[in-house]
Amino acid sequence: MCGIVGYVGPKSAERVIVEGLRRLEYRGYDSAGVALVHEGGLVGDKRAGKLTNLDKALEEHPLPESTIGIGHTRWATHGPPTDRNAHPHRGQKERVAVVHNGIIENFASLRHELEAAGHDLRSDTDTEVAAHLLEIAVAEGADLTTAMQDVCRRLRGAFTLVAVDAQDPDRVVAARRNSPLVVGVGEGENFLGSDVAAFIEHTRHALELGQDQVVTITRDAVEVTDFEGNPAQARAYEIDWDLTAAEKDGYDWFMRKEIFEQPRAIADSLLGRHDDSGKLQLDEIRMSEDELRDVDKIIITACGTAFYAGLVAKYAIEHWTRIPCEVELAHEFRYRDPILTRDTLVVAISQSGETADTLMAIRHAREQRAKVLAICNTNGSTIPRESDAVIYTHAGPEIGVASTKGFMTQLIACYLLGLYLAQVRGTRFGDEIASVVDELAGLPAKVEQVLGQADQIYALAQDLQDARSVLFLGRHAGFPVALEGALKLKELAYIHAEGFAAGELKHGPIALIEEGLPVFCVVPPPGRDLLHDKMISGMQEVRARGARMIVLAEEGDDAVDDYADVIFRLPKASTLLQPVAAVVPLQLFACELATLMGHDVDQPRNLAKSVTVE
Ligand code: F6R
Repeated sequence: MCGIVGYVGPKSAERVIVEGLRRLEYRGYDSAGVALVHEGGLVGDKRAGKLTNLDKALEEHPLPESTIGIGHTRWATHGPPTDRNAHPHRGQKERVAVVHNGIIENFASLRHELEAAGHDLRSDTDTEVAAHLLEIAVAEGADLTTAMQDVCRRLRGAFTLVAVDAQDPDRVVAARRNSPLVVGVGEGENFLGSDVAAFIEHTRHALELGQDQVVTITRDAVEVTDFEGNPAQARAYEIDWDLTAAEKDGYDWFMRKEIFEQPRAIADSLLGRHDDSGKLQLDEIRMSEDELRDVDKIIITACGTAFYAGLVAKYAIEHWTRIPCEVELAHEFRYRDPILTRDTLVVAISQSGETADTLMAIRHAREQRAKVLAICNTNGSTIPRESDAVIYTHAGPEIGVASTKGFMTQLIACYLLGLYLAQVRGTRFGDEIASVVDELAGLPAKVEQVLGQADQIYALAQDLQDARSVLFLGRHAGFPVALEGALKLKELAYIHAEGFAAGELKHGPIALIEEGLPVFCVVPPPGRDLLHDKMISGMQEVRARGARMIVLAEEGDDAVDDYADVIFRLPKASTLLQPVAAVVPLQLFACELATLMGHDVDQPRNLAKSVTVE
């Protein structure tokens, strides 16, 4: 939520910053702006709307050359997305410029104080108070670093702030509390970014900042302190993906590219985590086997798509480990005062590792002494750092705002966790672990097989272009798949879409069915309990009421033939692992339908990639 870039070095700061913003635009696209230091003053531009509006403005009114500056791409919180509210914001005398991600909770009282002292605040944002406060401090003689420490001690809420002082052309200063910020360490140049995509073109060396830290970058140095000014440590790490991972590589959308990357993402997420005999090796779980054996309850907490991965995980983890497992939306979790003990394992699933709701949930869990394990795709992000243990998914950077390969690798990590717990605890399921691991290893090929049907799915999207409502039905582990299919369609195509547990239909939602309504049915593999047959009965009831049936069923499952208008064949899989293949046609369908409707698939309206405000 909001992308931030800072640069100091020998290159054109405008170019470095605007390119960085382009790679961060998925974090917010309500407005964009830059501020550069030039000859003792500030120059810059900022425009409402996508980055292309800023590009155009900079082309029409070029800025003078500068080698130091900051930039921002906004997801609006306080104040509508206008030029005036776009960042950077400046202080009263236009000496200090600031960009901000997060929410300054006490901005109203600070604003009041500033206005009473004669300051003229020109925007509706919470950010502008920080610019004025910093400027007061530097005018009184503090350097920008000290000014930032002083101001941060006065702020409440979540914030990443990055600032420049026109009279100090050598340093960019930033601070973070509950909001992301990483440093890119170059040679004779340094960078700041909301995430490493901001500077991946220039360096692979990064520093992860801790909570409540201030960082000062000059061309040749990076200095980190706490808010009191005491020296502090930042963790250095190497970025393990390259620039091509952050480019479209011939695809029309990042999302489509990321859907097609899923076979590789699954393989990467399995790599090194099991041996040939099917024994799992999850050394990265920094919890002893004794601790894992003591776990008597698991609570999975997450938001959106990650929450649906958690719903799938519940079926698998309970089945394999026999440990009771609850799944809870992170923003609801702490407010219901959940019962947590030292033996509760809270699993936080987050692609970005920065989702504020999930972060607050794990903090609450740790306060109650529960153990927290993160499943995360982003090295250096806050949620893994604040967890007792972490399983990283290896999806690579996910840039399309709608999560696809992130979800896929979350499923894989959840399966690995469930199997590992079963292995450590020696449950009765133990003998089957090797065969499930074997099945996991075969998943990349199965997903590849589904991707091979993309044209058939695109043709369906063409046919359903005028649909205004679409339903998705599933049972068991297929129910979260139905929910995920509906979410993808809502967020990308902006049409009504809902996922239901198929058994629930007759308790109300069947009233929605009318002639021609498209209904996707995720059919469980035949042969497990009565799930498959019950699903077919539900489908008969829907079909009898005139719905248009789009059926996802296993190859060879001809029991569905009489109730389907369109059938997509899924490769054979066990019920628990079927979601991996079954979600792919739904992702492709949503991507294609939104494309045909002329929407921006990578940057759907009103959304941002990582939601760093509660
Ligand atoms: C939907 C989507 C969101 C995220 C949710 C959690 O396509 O991407 O629902 O899944 O905002 O984000 P993370 O996983 O970053 O915590």
